[in-house]
Amino acid sequence: MTTMTSTIPASIFDDITLETLSQRNGGKWLRYGRDVISACTIELDFPSSEPVQQRIIEMVTSGQTGYPDFPGPPVQLFEAWSNFSGRHFGWASDPAMSFCTDYVSNGLTESLKALLEPGTRVGYTTPGFMYLTAVIERAGMVPTTIAAIDPTDGANFMDLEIIEDAFRAGITAFILVNPYHPHGFVPSVEHLTAFAALADRYGVRIFSDEIYSPSTFPGVTFTPFGSLDAESARRSVTAVGAAKTWNLRSFPTAMLYTGDQATADALNTPGMKRSTASASYVGTEAMVTALNESDAWLDALTSYLEGNARIVENEFPALLPGAIISKADSGFAVWIDLNALGIDEPTAYFIEKGKVGISRGQAFGPQGFRCLRLNTGTPAHVIREIGKRMASAI
Ligand SMILES: Cc1ncc(COP(=O)(O)O)c(C=O)c1O
Repeated sequence: MTTMTSTIPASIFDDITLETLSQRNGGKWLRYGRDVISACTIELDFPSSEPVQQRIIEMVTSGQTGYPDFPGPPVQLFEAWSNFSGRHFGWASDPAMSFCTDYVSNGLTESLKALLEPGTRVGYTTPGFMYLTAVIERAGMVPTTIAAIDPTDGANFMDLEIIEDAFRAGITAFILVNPYHPHGFVPSVEHLTAFAALADRYGVRIFSDEIYSPSTFPGVTFTPFGSLDAESARRSVTAVGAAKTWNLRSFPTAMLYTGDQATADALNTPGMKRSTASASYVGTEAMVTALNESDAWLDALTSYLEGNARIVENEFPALLPGAIISKADSGFAVWIDLNALGIDEPTAYFIEKGKVGISRGQAFGPQGFRCLRLNTGTPAHVIREIGKRMASAI
C-alpha cells in the first residue's frame, strides 16, 4: 500500500454516534434489535469516499440508473483496477484478461463452472469464509474444507503440510482467500510462493478471492497471487471488488482477472456474460471512481481500521481474561478465541448478557467453537463500548 500521509481527518469516522447507527434499517443494525450493538455482517459503518458519493449522486440525479448494457466489456473498470494494483501492490493485472461480474461470489461460481468438470472437489481452508460452500455448490462442484489455519501466525497462516496432504488426496482446485478472512491475515510473499509451488507440483487450479486487498493496513505488503512467478499463479483466476472497502454492496459490480490466455478464453461463457449483465451501471462507475480517485480517503480508512484492530488486540485481553485475538493486517474483522472463558455459545451469551451481537465462530467451521468474529469497521468508541459491555457480561 502507499504510505502517503492522509489529509483526511479521522473525525469523519469518529464522529458517527452509536445513536445514529442504532437507528439504521440495514440488515446489520436490525439483526439483533436496536438495543444491541451489532458487530456481525462485514460491512463498514462509514460512508464511502467523497468522490464515490459525488459520482453516485451525479448518476442518480442525472437519471443514469438504468441497465448497464455495455456495448463491450467495461474496459475503464479493468484499467482502473490495473492502475490501482500497480500503484498499491507494485504489480498490474492485465485489462485484456479481465471480466466484469456483479458479485465476487457469483464471479467465483461462474469461473469454477467455466474451468472445472462438474463434481470436482474444490478445497478451501477453515476456520474460513463458509459462504464459499454455497459458491462451490452453485457451480455443481463439491466443497472440501481443509482445517489448515494457524491463528497465531498471520504471515504463514496456512499449514502447507496439511494443504499438501489435501492436494495429494485429490484436491485439484482451491479457493485462496488473500488477505485471509476472518482473521485479517496478509500472507508473506514467501508463504504464498511456497503455496504456489505446491499448487504447481500437484497441478491445482487456484481461484484467489482478493476482495479485502484494498483494505490492507499501511506499511503492510500485500502480494496479489496472480503476480507470483508460478504456473499456478498465471493460470489462476482472481476476484476483486469495491463492495467491502468502499461500502458499495448495494451497487453490485466486481471483477475477475487471469494471466493466461487459455484461461481467459475459457472464461468467455454465457454464464459469465450473464453475470456481467447483472452488474450495476452505478456500481461500475462507483468502483472506477473508488479506484481512481480515493487514495487519500483509503489511506485514512486503512489507518483507522488498523487503529481499531490494535484496540481489540491490546485492550480486549484485559477485559476478557485469556482471550486470544488474531493480529490482523487488513480488513475489518478480527478473530477472538474465547476458549479460556468456557462459554460454549458466546454469540448468544453476549447478545443476552451484554447487548452486543458478534458472529458465531462455528459459522466458519467447527474449529470456531467458542470463538467470535468481530466487525471492526465501526467508530473506535463503538469498539471500546463493545469491549466494556462484554467485560461486564462475564
Ligand atoms: C472473503 C469474502 N469474499 C467475498 C465476500 C462477498 O462478496 P460479494 O458480496 O461481492 O459476493 C465476502 C463477504 O463477506 C467475503 O468475506
